[in-house]
Amino acid sequence: LFEHTVIGGKCSRSRLLVGTYNALDRHATRERIQEVSNVAACVEILQAFFLIFDDVMDGSTMRRGKPCWHRLPGVGLSAINDGLILDSAINHILNDTLRNDPNKDAVSNVFAHVSVFHSPSLYTDIVNHKTSYYTCYAPLRIAMLLADCTMFAEQCKQIAFKMGYLFQAQDDYLDCFGDPLETGKVGSDLREGKCTWVTCRAVEKLKDHPEYTRLFEENFGQASEECEMKVKSLLLKLHVKEDFVRFEADYSRALLNDIECFVLGDLKSVLRYSLSEFLNRK
Ligand code: IPE
Ligand code: MG
Repeated sequence: LFEHTVIGGKCSRSRLLVGTYNALDRHATRERIQEVSNVAACVEILQAFFLIFDDVMDGSTMRRGKPCWHRLPGVGLSAINDGLILDSAINHILNDTLRNDPNKDAVSNVFAHVSVFHSPSLYTDIVNHKTSYYTCYAPLRIAMLLADCTMFAEQCKQIAFKMGYLFQAQDDYLDCFGDPLETGKVGSDLREGKCTWVTCRAVEKLKDHPEYTRLFEENFGQASEECEMKVKSLLLKLHVKEDFVRFEADYSRALLNDIECFVLGDLKSVLRYSLSEFLNRK
């Protein structure tokens, strides 16, 4: 379970946490760095738990270039139990690792706050809940607590949620237009009728092209490859692809500017690096 589901991702979240910690505490002992790494590993375990559930819910087939966990022979719906085993391991590791840390409860609370069960309506709300909090904010917040340095919490929070938004918008774009050989997964958002950056943009553009509204409504959210293809060609006709490229360039330029204006020099380079990794993930 651990080898198949925890190992093999990009480790963006754990590296953001460790990088942030190192920027805030330049004189940590080996032991302390090991403790911080254990907590960072918990973020990857959390990610594995989310992805297992997500893939069951979406009926996905591939993840990280391998079959999804629930698709392995003999796993099936036991995947739910396996996900919960991973989730409960987190608390054990945190309790064990942070036994003597004054911020142990605060760190545990950040983990407890991350929830897979949510149903907000607006795209930004969805993204804040499903991605930004655990992908960008939690690693930064946990590192700040472990380093006992929360001076720039508010600025970090704003940057983290913007990074998360960019990350999820990209994920939405790749789900629709990405190459499964590169992303390691087969997209399903159009068949599932998901509220994504791509579909929000399409709906916006349909206001200027009402003649396509019916085509969109009849084919979006249908479990058929033919319908999926029809929606995809409509998206191309509406230039949603070009819109994304422009959005990504503008948004990341603005975000880079926010980071450059950030007061804390050491953190600046961690955030800049993290952002550049997000931008090069295709
Ligand atoms: C995918 O996350 C799920 C989202 C929140 C969009 P990643 O793209 O970070 O997945 P791994 O861990 O690197 O495989
Ligand atoms: Mg997706």
